[in-house]
Amino acid sequence: PGAPLVDTHGRVHRDLRISLTDRCSLRCTYCMPEQGNEWLAKTSILSLDEIERVARVAAADGITTFRLTGGEPLLRQDIVEVVRRLARITGPDGAPVELAMTTNGIRLPELLPGLMDAGLRRLNISLDTLRRDRFRELTRRDRLDDVLDGIAAAAASGLRPLKLNAVAMRDVNDDELVALVEFAIAHDAQMRFIEQMPLDAGHTWDRTRMVTRDEILDALSRRWTLTPVPGRGGAPAERWMLDGGPHTVGVIASVTAPFCGDCDRLRLTADGQLRNCLFSTTEYDLLPILRADAAGDVDEGIDRMLRSCVRGKLPGHAINDPSFLQPARGMNAIGG
Ligand code: GTP
Ligand code: 5AD
Ligand code: SF4
Repeated sequence: PGAPLVDTHGRVHRDLRISLTDRCSLRCTYCMPEQGNEWLAKTSILSLDEIERVARVAAADGITTFRLTGGEPLLRQDIVEVVRRLARITGPDGAPVELAMTTNGIRLPELLPGLMDAGLRRLNISLDTLRRDRFRELTRRDRLDDVLDGIAAAAASGLRPLKLNAVAMRDVNDDELVALVEFAIAHDAQMRFIEQMPLDAGHTWDRTRMVTRDEILDALSRRWTLTPVPGRGGAPAERWMLDGGPHTVGVIASVTAPFCGDCDRLRLTADGQLRNCLFSTTEYDLLPILRADAAGDVDEGIDRMLRSCVRGKLPGHAINDPSFLQPARGMNAIGG
């Protein structure tokens, strides 16, 4: 316990994405079917205490950033308390962990003051389109205004950097890339475009229809001069300055330019499964450890499971292999 989480390929893990629920207030076509998925059993959802317990061991093992995801993390009833508990955690050096959230923005106006007071430091908000008709089609809910109110609240809050995520989709929103960047600039936010990954509920992903990093850059460079920002670290997004800065745009090219060689992420699902990759087909079950009758050494058990999970990590995803198989777990239950 306490040693860094290094895998067999030398990657040091510093980032834990914690999915708090598989439920969501939207039904984005690239993530969930219209009727939703079969939800995770209530009894298997980790409690506040259980999440905190795992997070404390992870921080002792060198995890420095927690990102809260879903489904939609703000649907979790005890979200403010989750943030408060996790924000107090410090690493072995006594430094507080970094606490971020990825959200669809709905409910932010009411919740953000409490979340900030509890210690939330950073927000990424999903925004695929600025057009109401499209939003309704894409998310199967008429809630664009709620999302925009959430983004306005985030912009006004002063939390920075504020990032907006759009999955680029052919014939859906690929004519809005410039407009989305302009919207982001107006909100002092960083727009990021994401290559769609084969994680959709319907398994309808098609590489020939996917909008690629190069196509995104082509579209943007017709409007701005793009200059690469050096020093990406382990971040999924490559970034470019727009007309020399200060604003930037990011592209997350998981398919055409995988960044697995620098991956520093682990994932914890809402039902207590550790995953070493978005695409992994193996999960490492923490529930029996967390809920053992003989409490034994729970922390030691969590530590052991974190290490098994890291040890089992493959060098990278296999999206581009002909033999690729989508994981059984849907994106809404992985957390992105
Ligand atoms: P930052 O720390 O702010 O850079 O956040 P992030 O980009 O890692 O997280 P976010 O939740 O905003 O995710 C944006 C997109 O990146 C989503 O499509 C995620 O699925 C994807 N993503 C996040 N982490 C990984 C990863 O490790 N591998 C791959 N392939 N995609 C990832
Ligand atoms: N491919 C790429 N990104 C996706 N997201 C959800 N599904 C996919 C997919 N199939 C994104 C969401 C959100 C983030 C957590 O993951 O748009 O911004
Ligand atoms: Fe890491 Fe898997 Fe993402 Fe590659 S696809 S960067 S290994 S989580």
